[in-house]
Amino acid sequence: MSLVKMSSLLEYAESRKCAVGAFSVGNMEMVIGAVKAAEETETPIILQIAEKRMKQSPLELMAPMMVSAAENASVPIAVHLDHGLTMECIEKALGYGFTSVMLDGSLLPFEENIELTKKVKRAADKYGATVEAELGVVGGNEGDSAKHEILCTDPDKALEFCERTDIDCLAVAIGNAHGNYPVLPELRFDVLEEIYNKLETPLVLHGGTGITAEMFKKAISLGIRKINIATASFDAAANAAKEYSSSVDKPDYFTLSPKMAEAVYENVKRHINIFSSKH
Ligand code: 13P
Repeated sequence: MSLVKMSSLLEYAESRKCAVGAFSVGNMEMVIGAVKAAEETETPIILQIAEKRMKQSPLELMAPMMVSAAENASVPIAVHLDHGLTMECIEKALGYGFTSVMLDGSLLPFEENIELTKKVKRAADKYGATVEAELGVVGGNEGDSAKHEILCTDPDKALEFCERTDIDCLAVAIGNAHGNYPVLPELRFDVLEEIYNKLETPLVLHGGTGITAEMFKKAISLGIRKINIATASFDAAANAAKEYSSSVDKPDYFTLSPKMAEAVYENVKRHINIFSSKH
C-alpha cells in the first residue's frame, strides 16, 4: 500500500532539494496516466482534484478511484484536495481518505484566512492529514469562477501566517497564474527568495502550466517543494481525444481511452523529470 501523507513527500523533497509534482486529475484516464508516469520513473507524486472541478468529476466517484490508485501504486502517492472552497468538501475529502487538504482562503482578509485555515487544521489533524494554505493571490481562476489579478505574497505576512496556523506548506503568489499564460510570466524570484529566507515551511508553486524548466529549477532552488500542474494535463487529454477522433471516421472508445491516458502520462513524466532532477 503506497498511499502516503503529503507531509512525508514534502520531507522527501526537502531532503533531496527537489519538488514533488502535484498532478490534477478529472477522470480514470488521467489517473492511469499520472500513476504510470510515477511508477515508471520510480518517483512519488501527489494526485489532486480541485473542488471547482467536481461539477464534472464528482468527489464521490473520483475519491475512491484516486485513493485506490495510490494504495495500489508501486511508489508513494499522496491524495490531495486542491483549492477547497467549503469546510463541507474538506470534511468529505478527509472522510474518503485524502491525505492532504487545502482550503483556499487567499481572497479573504488576512485574519479571516487565518481563522479558516486554523479550522481546516483542526479537521485535518483528526486524520493525521497534511494542510496547505495560500497567501497572496495567484492569478487565473482555479479557486472559483472569477479571474483574479495577481497579488504577490508579503514575506512578513507569510511568516506570521505560518506561525499562527502551523500549516504544513504554503502556496505563494509570485507572479504565477492558473491556466495557459498569454505570455511567459516574469516570476518574482526576489519575493520568493525573501519568503524562503524567512520561513521554515515548505513552499508550493501553483500555476505550473507554461512555466519553463529553467524557471522551475530556479523556484526549486528557492524552496519550492510542491508544484501544481493542471491545465497541461487537461489539455493533453483533450488534444489526444481531438487528434484521434478527427483521424478516423468512427471513433472507438477503447482506442480513445488509452490514447488519453498516454497523453497525460507523457505530460506528467516530462514534469516529473524536471522537478526531481538534482538542483
Ligand atoms: P495550471 O492549471 O496552470 O497548471 O495550475 C495548476 C494549479 O495550480 C492547480 O491548483
